[in-house]
Amino acid sequence: MALAISLAFLLLFHICSLSQGENFLFNGFNGSDGNLELVGASIVKPSGMIRLTNKTRGVIGHAFYKKPITMKNSSSFPNASSFSTEIVFAIVSPSSGSGGFGLAFTLSPSPSFPGAEANHYFGIFNSSNDNKSSNHILAVEFDTVNGYNESWNSDGNHVGIDINSVYSVASEPAAYYTTGSHKEEVKMESGDLIHAWIDYDGEAQLLNVTVSPINKRKPTKPLLSYGIDLSSVLQETMYAGFSASTGDNQSSSHYIIAWSFAVNGIARRINLTDLPIPPKEKSSSSSYSPPVKALIVALSVLVFLLLAILLLFTLYRRLMPSETMEDWEIDCPHRFRYKDLQAATKGFKDSNVIGAGGFGEVYKGILPSTGCGIAVKKITRNGIQGMREFAAEIESLGRLRHKNLVNLQGWCKKKNDLLIVYDYIPNGSLDTLIFHPKDNFMLSWQQRFNILKGIASGLLYLHEEWEQVVIHRDVKSSNVLIDEDLNARLSDFGLARLYDHGEISRTTGVVGTIGYIAPELARTGKASAASDVFGYGILLLEVASGKRPIGSGHSDQFILVDWVIENHEAGRILDTVDPKLGHYVVKEMELVLELGLLCSHFKPEARPTMRQVVRYLNGDEPLPHVDNLIESESFCEMNSRFMQVISSDSIISYRSSSYGGISSSSMASGR
Ligand SMILES: *[C@@H]1O[C@H](CO)[C@@H](O)[C@H](O)[C@H]1NC(C)=O
Ligand SMILES: *[C@@H]1O[C@H](CO)[C@@H](O)[C@H](O)[C@H]1NC(C)=O
Ligand SMILES: *[C@@H]1O[C@H](CO)[C@@H](O)[C@H](O)[C@H]1NC(C)=O
Ligand SMILES: *[C@@H]1O[C@H](CO)[C@@H](O)[C@H](O)[C@H]1NC(C)=O
Ligand SMILES: *[C@@H]1O[C@H](CO)[C@@H](O)[C@H](O)[C@H]1NC(C)=O
Ligand SMILES: *[C@@H]1O[C@H](CO)[C@@H](O)[C@H](O)[C@H]1NC(C)=O
Ligand SMILES: *[C@@H]1O[C@H](CO)[C@@H](O)[C@H](O)[C@H]1NC(C)=O
Ligand SMILES: *[C@@H]1O[C@H](CO)[C@@H](O)[C@H](O)[C@H]1NC(C)=O
Ligand SMILES: *[C@@H]1O[C@H](CO)[C@@H](O)[C@H](O)[C@H]1NC(C)=O
Ligand SMILES: *[C@@H]1O[C@H](CO)[C@@H](O)[C@H](O)[C@H]1NC(C)=O
Repeated sequence: MALAISLAFLLLFHICSLSQGENFLFNGFNGSDGNLELVGASIVKPSGMIRLTNKTRGVIGHAFYKKPITMKNSSSFPNASSFSTEIVFAIVSPSSGSGGFGLAFTLSPSPSFPGAEANHYFGIFNSSNDNKSSNHILAVEFDTVNGYNESWNSDGNHVGIDINSVYSVASEPAAYYTTGSHKEEVKMESGDLIHAWIDYDGEAQLLNVTVSPINKRKPTKPLLSYGIDLSSVLQETMYAGFSASTGDNQSSSHYIIAWSFAVNGIARRINLTDLPIPPKEKSSSSSYSPPVKALIVALSVLVFLLLAILLLFTLYRRLMPSETMEDWEIDCPHRFRYKDLQAATKGFKDSNVIGAGGFGEVYKGILPSTGCGIAVKKITRNGIQGMREFAAEIESLGRLRHKNLVNLQGWCKKKNDLLIVYDYIPNGSLDTLIFHPKDNFMLSWQQRFNILKGIASGLLYLHEEWEQVVIHRDVKSSNVLIDEDLNARLSDFGLARLYDHGEISRTTGVVGTIGYIAPELARTGKASAASDVFGYGILLLEVASGKRPIGSGHSDQFILVDWVIENHEAGRILDTVDPKLGHYVVKEMELVLELGLLCSHFKPEARPTMRQVVRYLNGDEPLPHVDNLIESESFCEMNSRFMQVISSDSIISYRSSSYGGISSSSMASGR
C-alpha cells in the first residue's frame, strides 16, 4: 500500500517535472561529477563545491549541466520558455586585493567554447565573435572588474546581463534592495557565500537578476529587471552552466557551492544549512582569517618598529657622543647637554622666549636637575667656524664671577645652533625699566644711581680685576639686567674678545650698537677699555636723562650727548634730567651727567678709566671740572658729525665678524 502510494507520487512527480521542463537541484556537488561537464580549470572539490578557477592567472573554467535543456516548448512555438535558477557562489580574491575577473551563469548552444578568451571574456567569448548574434548566448555576469579593455581594469563589483557579448545590455553595482529603493552593497569578492537568482518570465519577457548575502531572504525587488525577448537568443535546446576566467594581472578563485535550475517553473529552494564554505586563502598562510592576519601584520610591524627604534636609540647613545663631541669638548666643564637644555626650555617652546636678538631667541628655562632658572641664548648660524676657540673663550668667561655680572653658566652646540646659558635674571633689562616700565613702576634716582655704580663695578672687574682683560664691547642699557634686589648685572660680555693684560687690541672689526660706539672704534675698529668707557658714558646720560642716545622722541637728528653738552655749556645741565624722575640728589645728578660727558669724550685719552669712574661715583675723588675738558669746539662738532654718520644706515654694515661673526650690533636686544 505504502509502496503503491509512493510509486504513485513518484509517477506524479515525474509527470510534473516532464511537463515543467528540466528541473534539477545540486545542494552541493558531492558525487555529481557524472551530471556535469567540467572543462578547463574546473574541478569538484572534495568538500562538494565546484571550483571554476583557482588563482592562477589567465585561466578559464567551465562547469555545465551535462544534458541539453529544452528552452522552447516546440519548434512550432518559438517563444523562449520561462526559467528560474538559484545559485550560491563565492569569489575568493587574493588578500593583496587585485581579484578578477568574475563568473557568469551561461545559457549556450554548446558546453564548450573553443578559442574563448580569459579576462573580460569570461571564457565564453573572444574578440572575434564578440557581439555576434550567431553566438546565441545569454550570460549573467557576476563581475568584479570594470571595463572591457586592458587599459581600464579598475575594481568593479557589478552584475550584468550579456546577450551574445561581454558588453552588458544592463548592469548594476552588486547590491540588494532592503526596503523600497534602499540598496545595500554586496561585496562579491569577499569570499563569503553569495546568493543569486535569475528568473525569466517568457510571457512577460522580463529577465530578473537578484543577489544578496547568504544570510538574507530573497529580496522582493530584483537588482536588475530587464525586458527582453530571449526567443531569438535562445535555441531550442541549450546548455546551462557557469564559466569563469582570471586575468593576466587579476585573479580570484571562483566557486559554485549550490545550484538549482528549472524551466517553466520556479527552481527548487537550495537547503542552505551545512553548505561548505570555500577557504579564503589557498596557500599555507591561509590558516588565518583576514582580521587575524591584519592583526598579526600590525603586531609584527609594531614589534619591528620598536626593535628598530631600540636599535637606533642604542646606536645613538653609543655613537652620538663621539659624533657631536669632539675631543676638545670633553674637558669643558661648562658644556651643557643639549637634551638638558631642551628639557629646561620645554623643547624651546615659543612661550618660553623672553627676548630676541638678531641671531636668535633667548629662552627662559628651568634646569630639571637643579630647579635653577636659566636664560638660554640660541644663536643659529650657517655653520659655526672657530667653535673650538669660541668654546675655549666661553670656558674661561664661565669662570668670571662678580655680583654685577650675569653668570655665564655654560654653552652647548648642536649642529648649527650655539646655545649660551646664563643665569635667569627676573626683572628684565635696564632699558625696558627706563623706557617701557611695566605697571607704572619707575626706577627712583637712588635705584638708578645704585645701578650705575653697579655697572661701573662690573666693568672695572672685567677691565682690571680679573686675570685677563675682558673688553665688553657692547655696553648699553639693554645689556644691563636688573635682578630682584634691583642690582645691575651686566650681560653679554660673552661676546667680547679676551685680551691679555697689556696687549693692545688688534683690529678685528667693529662690534657694538649704534649710539654707543666710540668714534675711534668706528674709525679704526680697535676696541679697548676706553671704548667700553665711552659706551658707559652714554649709558650714564641715558639713565639720568631718560632719553635714548639717538633720535629719542624728538627727531632723528637728536643726539643725546650734543644736547647735554649744549645744556651744560649754557649752565643748565639739570634741564636734561629725566622729567619722569621726582626727587633726586642734585649733586649726584650733576656728577652723573658730567661724568657721562667726560666718559663719552671723543678723545679716548681724555676718558677716565673704570677705576677712576668708580672712585668718582663713590665720592672718593672729585670729578675734574668738565668745562676744562670740553672747551674745544671740535669736541661738539666731532661728536655730532660722528653721531650723524653712525645714525645713518651706512654704518649698519658695521656688524662685524669677530668670532667668525658671532658678535655684532644685531645682538643688541639680546640678554
Ligand atoms: C590551478 O589550476 C590549474 C589548472 O587546474 C593548475 O594547473 C594549477 O596548478 C593550479 N594552481 C594552484 C595554485 O592550485
Ligand atoms: C561531500 O563529501 C565530503 C566527503 O567526501 C563531506 O565531507 C562533505 O560534507 C560532503 N558535502 C556535502 C554538501 O554533502
Ligand atoms: C509551454 O510551456 C508553458 C509552461 O507550462 C505552458 O504554459 C505553455 O502552454 C507551453 N506551450 C506549448 C506550446 O506547449
Ligand atoms: C572565437 O570563438 C569561436 C567560437 O567559440 C571560435 O569558433 C573562433 O575560432 C574563436 N576565434 C579565435 C580567434 O579564437
Ligand atoms: C553589437 O552589435 C549591434 C548590432 O548587432 C550594435 O548595434 C551594437 O552597437 C554592438 N555593440 C557593441 C558594444 O559593439
Ligand atoms: C577602453 O577603456 C577606456 C577607459 O575609459 C574607454 O574609454 C574605452 O572606450 C574602452 N575601449 C573599448 C573598446 O571599450
Ligand atoms: C521580475 O521583477 C518584477 C519587479 O521588478 C516582478 O514584478 C516580476 O514578477 C519579476 N518576475 C520574475 C519572473 O521574477
Ligand atoms: C511569443 O513571442 C511573441 C514575440 O516574439 C509575442 O508577441 C507573444 O506574445 C509570445 N507568446 C507567448 C505565449 O509568450
Ligand atoms: C598587467 O600588468 C603589467 C604591468 O603592470 C602591464 O604591463 C600589463 O598591461 C597588464 N596586463 C593586463 C591584461 O592588464
Ligand atoms: C536541510 O539540510 C539539513 C541537513 O543538511 C536537514 O537537517 C534539513 O532538514 C534540511 N532542510 C530541508 C528544508 O530540507
